[in-house]
Amino acid sequence: MSILTFDYTQTLYTPEYLSRFASTAADADSALKDAGYEYTGWLDYPLTIPQETLLDIMNTAEEIKRKCDSLVVIGIGGSYLGAKAGISMFSDAFNPKEGCPEVYFAGWNMSAVYHAQIMKKLKNREVCLIVVSKSGTTLETTAAFKLFRYFLFEKYGNDYVKRIYAVTDEKSGELRREADKAGYKTMVLPGDIGGRYSLFTPAGLLPLACGGADVLSVIKGARRAYEDISTLPFERNAAHQYAVLRRLMEIKGKSVEVYGYWDFQLEYFTEWLKQLFGESEGKQGKGLLPASAMFPRDLHSLGQFLQQGNPIVFETMLSVENPTLDIAYEGGKSSYDKTAKIIEKAVSAAHSSENTPVMNFVLRDLSEETFGYTSYFFMRACAVSCVLLGVNPFDQPGVEAYKAKVKELLGK
Ligand code: PA5
Repeated sequence: MSILTFDYTQTLYTPEYLSRFASTAADADSALKDAGYEYTGWLDYPLTIPQETLLDIMNTAEEIKRKCDSLVVIGIGGSYLGAKAGISMFSDAFNPKEGCPEVYFAGWNMSAVYHAQIMKKLKNREVCLIVVSKSGTTLETTAAFKLFRYFLFEKYGNDYVKRIYAVTDEKSGELRREADKAGYKTMVLPGDIGGRYSLFTPAGLLPLACGGADVLSVIKGARRAYEDISTLPFERNAAHQYAVLRRLMEIKGKSVEVYGYWDFQLEYFTEWLKQLFGESEGKQGKGLLPASAMFPRDLHSLGQFLQQGNPIVFETMLSVENPTLDIAYEGGKSSYDKTAKIIEKAVSAAHSSENTPVMNFVLRDLSEETFGYTSYFFMRACAVSCVLLGVNPFDQPGVEAYKAKVKELLGK
């Protein structure tokens, strides 16, 4: 089975009809390189990532694992969700991987309670900290960093600097200035790669490696996706087909895309998808609103709306062919996973038979290679889809507007 398979027949579009858009999709993909966009360094980064950067990531992760049993990773948006998605996908829900620290993500909310609870938990633990910020000025990240930097100082005195690892721009930003002055170990988030496309840089790979991921397999998967999307003809190029189908859904009057998923390990992958698509596409009064639903839980809530509600929604289902493990029940007669797969099939059929077109993606498994493949796949499909919509996939003027307002209110 291939790493990711795609079936759009439940949208009622035929391959013959879709094939009319083959060259439109290919042109949109070429425009990513040729149309003069900024921040396109991610496009071939999985191929060009320097060997020494990969080695540095792996060696630094080993150093962090030796030093601590608890790791705080601070960042928000694209500087957080990729790593969170990966760690949630590979890890046991209740325990860290053997030999790896427990990973706590901070700075993605402004709850004093949440951050105080992490510090309480880490009081008697050995702690390291990774802070990720491309701009080095994002307020939520800066506030959490100040909090945990002081926590480390109180715990370790001046040695606290040896426990801080910063991923940021090579030259600019407050975080870069501070890191260079204080002597934190730093890694570079390349200047031509934006936050939500930074998963394959140290921003995503360093926390992933600390959580026990085999980052070489993540990169291997991304390279395979790059190869497939760059070479496969439209009839077999699922990224191009999906990019086109999203636009066709709009023409049909759909304005919301719900990522429906069946494996709890995909919860943060769909959060990452929502950020990727929402921030890339939602501008100039355009774009599909990305949302997510975890099944079967949400069959008993949103399911009613999806089945018979306002027909503004289409669903993009994510399921997994080979689960990480299966269990037998009913005295060994039934497989838990087989029962789950029957429900999955029934739901796709039921939803698409009424007013919700359904596209189905099947991930081969929840391995690092599949994660790398699927992440790169959606990054590229998202960018192509944005070009087809006529928006710049790589800026986020709306987000900048709120950041500027916060600065104004703080009198900065
Ligand atoms: O995708 C993006 O560009 C944003 O979501 C950023 O990642 C987010 O705003 C955090 O920015 P920074 O990394 O500069 O702290």
